[in-house]
Amino acid sequence: MSEGAALEKKRYERLEDLGIGSATSKKLRELGFHTVESLAMATVKELEQAGISKTKALEFIRKARSCMPLPFIRGDELLKMRQTVLRLTTGSSMLDKLLGGGIESQSITEFYGEYGSGKSQICHQLCVNVQLPPEQGGLGAAALYIDTENTFRTERIFQMAKNLGLDPEEALKNIIFAEAYTSEHQMFLLENADKVIKENGVRLIIVDSLTSQFRSEYLGREMLAERQQKLNKHMHMLIRLSRAFNAVAVVTNQVMSKPDVFFGNAIHPVGGHIVAHTSHTRVFLRKSARGPVRIARLVSSPYLPEGEGIFRVSERGIEDTTEEER
Ligand SMILES: Nc1ncnc2c1ncn2[C@@H]1O[C@H](COP(=O)(O)OP(=O)(O)O)[C@@H](O)[C@H]1O
Ligand SMILES: [Mg+2]
Repeated sequence: MSEGAALEKKRYERLEDLGIGSATSKKLRELGFHTVESLAMATVKELEQAGISKTKALEFIRKARSCMPLPFIRGDELLKMRQTVLRLTTGSSMLDKLLGGGIESQSITEFYGEYGSGKSQICHQLCVNVQLPPEQGGLGAAALYIDTENTFRTERIFQMAKNLGLDPEEALKNIIFAEAYTSEHQMFLLENADKVIKENGVRLIIVDSLTSQFRSEYLGREMLAERQQKLNKHMHMLIRLSRAFNAVAVVTNQVMSKPDVFFGNAIHPVGGHIVAHTSHTRVFLRKSARGPVRIARLVSSPYLPEGEGIFRVSERGIEDTTEEER
């Protein structure tokens, strides 16, 4: 089979181009489907919520999918697709190396660690780095930052942008910011992000932190199942967006201390199996005895070995450690 032989690829720009009436298109937009890309990744059940019949929903999804790459492909074509995965520098060459050359697009990378371990600093740095040209490790693109802990600081972006020779005012223009007040609101923001992502050329989506709202709202065992179900939905939305727009998706997560049979009190990331299985790449961050130095441990990756690296957090941002610190 030759590449793309099965379906002639038609370009559908707007929902209406798929033959969806304007009233239904409006409903779909209300449900968060603003683009053909997002429709291609939708389930029939989701479209039924807009009052669309099963048959019609299938038809729309199929049409939307026809302008996306084919689902069945040969291994060598899969290799080609893997080659479309982009990589974004963290600012630290050791951390980049640990991650196989930077943080990759089309999947979720999770940074977890204690308070002050550098999770939000990395997020800030990535928002600036993504704006750099590819030859400097960037993606020449904009960032979307969903902040749930009110820790995003424009001052920090200013410092980091200046350090990289970017105009700080311009750098801030390329960061789309939203604060999530509740877990529902956090989910709502992501469900409605596709338009903003497309219009602004976003290739970095950050949720800092993924779990804090969920953790504070869903208390006790009886709410655990519901919390996990919501988290699962939220993370799958993020995966879809990262694939549809070839974007890097980064989430942060807190840790909790749990009694462990073998090691006494062990540190675990929040979110249990759902978050563990949905984050493709997980990095555990911790402070070191040497002030600005942080230790990153690659805990899980679909194809990279486990390992550790160090970097530092300074006024300039995320960077390599000095000779003496190594
Ligand atoms: N302007 C700065 N100059 C130097 N270090 C900073 C600066 N801002 C933050 N840091 C460092 O980053 C730490 C906070 O890291 P952060 O990423 O916010 O933690 P968290 O993992 O809780 O998100 C501070 O404790 C400090 O060590
Ligand atoms: Mg933080």
